[in-house]
Amino acid sequence: MTISFIGGGAMCEAILKGILVAKGATPDEITIAEPRKIRRNELSKKYGVITTASNLNAVSNNADIIVLAVKPQVVSFVLNEIDKSISTRQLLLSIVAGVKLDTLTKSTSHASVIRVMPNTPAQIGSGVSVWTASNSVSDKQKEMVVSLLQPLGIEIYVENETLIDMSTALSASGPAYVFAFTESLIDAGIHIGMSIELSTELAIHTVLGSAKMLKETGIHPAELRNLVTSPGGTTEAALIKLEAGGLRSTLIQAVEAAYQRALQLGNL
Ligand SMILES: NC(=O)c1ccc[n+]([C@@H]2O[C@H](COP(=O)([O-])OP(=O)(O)OC[C@H]3O[C@@H](n4cnc5c(N)ncnc54)[C@H](OP(=O)(O)O)[C@@H]3O)[C@@H](O)[C@H]2O)c1
Repeated sequence: MTISFIGGGAMCEAILKGILVAKGATPDEITIAEPRKIRRNELSKKYGVITTASNLNAVSNNADIIVLAVKPQVVSFVLNEIDKSISTRQLLLSIVAGVKLDTLTKSTSHASVIRVMPNTPAQIGSGVSVWTASNSVSDKQKEMVVSLLQPLGIEIYVENETLIDMSTALSASGPAYVFAFTESLIDAGIHIGMSIELSTELAIHTVLGSAKMLKETGIHPAELRNLVTSPGGTTEAALIKLEAGGLRSTLIQAVEAAYQRALQLGNL
């Protein structure tokens, strides 16, 4: 499978790592178009992939999949540039937040478009990719998308495109919420007198173990929380503070803000 990325930033690299680790494609089957020379050199040196400054070169090499991995603000400019060079057999796959299938198909003369909302744990094969497809995408192309996404973690196909914008707010931005939570837990350990090393180790393994427990037991988080909360105990004392600080409502408002921002980005 040959793949061309337009935009060699953070998300491109996360997907690239996932593909290479899983041997979904070899480095010589991957081309990355990226404007910054330093970044191009970094990517080619680190991963052995082909890099180019020209988006047109990356598209006209006839790669099976063209991955649009630029910021929403430059999408229309990039689409104008590559539009005429995309062949009908090529699949255009966008990971750009907010930009709708309808916008992607109307602003190109290309009908086969996929929207994917991945997240950065893709680089270690533990990502979540939520995706949808325009009507013209063939079953064979859908199979190709699944084989691209599966090595990156779990992939979930959705019929309703709105769920892609919702996933942007929950699972695509989600690792940042978990990192912020973990960072705070580390700070808390230091605050009560632990070394940074011990606090970091304990915080990471607590988040990891709790996520694994949720996944492996299938028990609702509220029930698992109850199991570690005895009346008058230490966990209860902490949870009272978390509720008073508005953890739950703040998180709900944060995800809502991210969702609204995803919708706005689609209108730029
Ligand atoms: N990061 C995430 O967790 C995440 C998750 C899901 C989806 N996404 C989506 O993925 C897309 C990329 O995000 P990112 O985090 O990877 O951003 P990023 O790190 O800023 O990467 C974007 C890359 O595109 C390059 N670029 C700018 N203008 C270009 C042009 N005209 N042609 C080709 N490349 C160009 C940028 O180069 P310069 O550095 O020189 O500007 C940069 O390397 C976004 O649309 C975002 O919504 C991100």
